[in-house]
Amino acid sequence: MPIVIKTEDEIAIMREAGRHVAEVLQILARSVRPGVVEKELDEIVRREFARRGVVPTFLGYHGYPATVCVSVNDEIVHGIPGDRPFQEGDVVSIDLGCTYKGFVADSAITIGVGRITPEAERLIRVTEEALWRGIRAARAGNRVGAIGHAIQSFVEAQGFSVVREYVGHGVGRQMHEDPQVPNYGPPDWGPVLRVGMVLAIEPMVNMGDWRTKRDPDRWTVRTVDGSLSAHFEHTIAVTEGEPLVLTLP
Ligand code: MF3
Ligand code: CO
Repeated sequence: MPIVIKTEDEIAIMREAGRHVAEVLQILARSVRPGVVEKELDEIVRREFARRGVVPTFLGYHGYPATVCVSVNDEIVHGIPGDRPFQEGDVVSIDLGCTYKGFVADSAITIGVGRITPEAERLIRVTEEALWRGIRAARAGNRVGAIGHAIQSFVEAQGFSVVREYVGHGVGRQMHEDPQVPNYGPPDWGPVLRVGMVLAIEPMVNMGDWRTKRDPDRWTVRTVDGSLSAHFEHTIAVTEGEPLVLTLP
């Protein structure tokens, strides 16, 4: 599918979608405490999205059974919220998307439960900083590869690794549109970024090996070596100047 350029009106709708995602992500982040069960996050999303009149994009996507992905410790992405209670020291990635007036916004955060190790704290901060470096590289005239190059060079200099098998993506009327947005690779790779492109940039960073494996549930993606992983994601629009971050409160 060719890359879809969005109008200013469409980007304004996506900004509203993004505000709902960001606000509900904040509610989820405040709800994560030791003893709270993963599934309770799905219940909160159902209630908040219904109240706001937005649709949970993930629910039913290729059969995905929940409104939100909850990926704990060595889980990288696409964890299905289950019956496990959060425990002090957990590293919890929460990925959320909504559809509003036909347009999707997609965002993810990673938080620690209670006290976490300094190295886990550093993993989270490096992943968030990598996302912002990727966002700053998303300027008209650059190639898509500039984003991944900014992310990978920073993450590897910090001694962590970047997941290769899962990538960011264009976003619009569909959650996954062209182009793919890898978190690695050379800056001169891929299509040229143009004003009106909307991208979900989403670095997944592992403390150890970058390789992944999938659980028998066919969704949950984990690190092969059991090392911790973090994930941050924003939906952004390419403009004449600084990228516009759509998934902020
Ligand atoms: N942010 C994730 C992605 O872009 C959300 C998809 S999860 C799914 O792949 F469950 F909906 F597949
Ligand atoms: Co995404």
